[in-house]
Amino acid sequence: MKVIIRDDSKTASVWAARYIADRINEKAASNPGEPFVIGLCTGSTPIETYAELIRLVKAGKVSFKNVVSFNMDEYVGLPESHPESYHSFMHKYLFDQIDEPAQNIHILNGNAPDLDKECADYEKAIAAAGGFDFFLGGIGEDGHIAFNEPFSPLNSRTRVMTLTEDTRIVNSRFFDGDMNQVPKQALSVGVATVTDAKEVMILAFGPKKARAIRDAVEGPLSHYCTVSALQNHQQGIIVCDEAAVGELKLNSYKYFKAVEAAENR
Ligand code: PGA
Repeated sequence: MKVIIRDDSKTASVWAARYIADRINEKAASNPGEPFVIGLCTGSTPIETYAELIRLVKAGKVSFKNVVSFNMDEYVGLPESHPESYHSFMHKYLFDQIDEPAQNIHILNGNAPDLDKECADYEKAIAAAGGFDFFLGGIGEDGHIAFNEPFSPLNSRTRVMTLTEDTRIVNSRFFDGDMNQVPKQALSVGVATVTDAKEVMILAFGPKKARAIRDAVEGPLSHYCTVSALQNHQQGIIVCDEAAVGELKLNSYKYFKAVEAAENR
């Protein structure tokens, strides 16, 4: 895996957005007419990356007309119109401001009558679209990718997940600080759904992510930290600010800096 380190989340997010735009443009040039299939995440972390992508779309530097997206998760039982649903989040922070056609947008339905069928159909729809070219994710403080909490199988697929108390406490900041308002379950792509993508990018900003980044990068490949699955991926990139790499060994930090400097020479 590569770890890209920038001074702050703003410069890291601009780097990430431009990288994604380049990938979309490269596929449009090499395989004209073929969709670019991307997995997308929610949370505080990707907001600045989405803002830069919106800026690039408005500046005519990239278009989402031929992008097909699948979001990684959604709460169970929360109305789509709820301000904290991931449907609402994605429309507010990205979809309403770019040119991605509505029919290309896919988000799990956490209110489906048959949740298991909803998850199985999602996997089928991803496969029918040709599989992911790229997956953009965040990382939880406990090292989760999507809602694949610690001890989720690394070969897992889209399914109903029970959220840990830790995750519900962390997410209560979006629900008036009241953990009881945070849904107890979510639908989530599996770890293998993410790592099947040709390329995976994880964003991690701030000191609260430092332990998870240490476990993901320097720890063993383990269901204890599900982002560690990226260690077995051929095209895995973790984009961090300085605070998020604060618990890496100095030698690891220097290694990733040196690799990037050498590649840019
Ligand atoms: P955050 O969430 O971006 O709000 O920190 C990330 C995650 O839990 O995956």
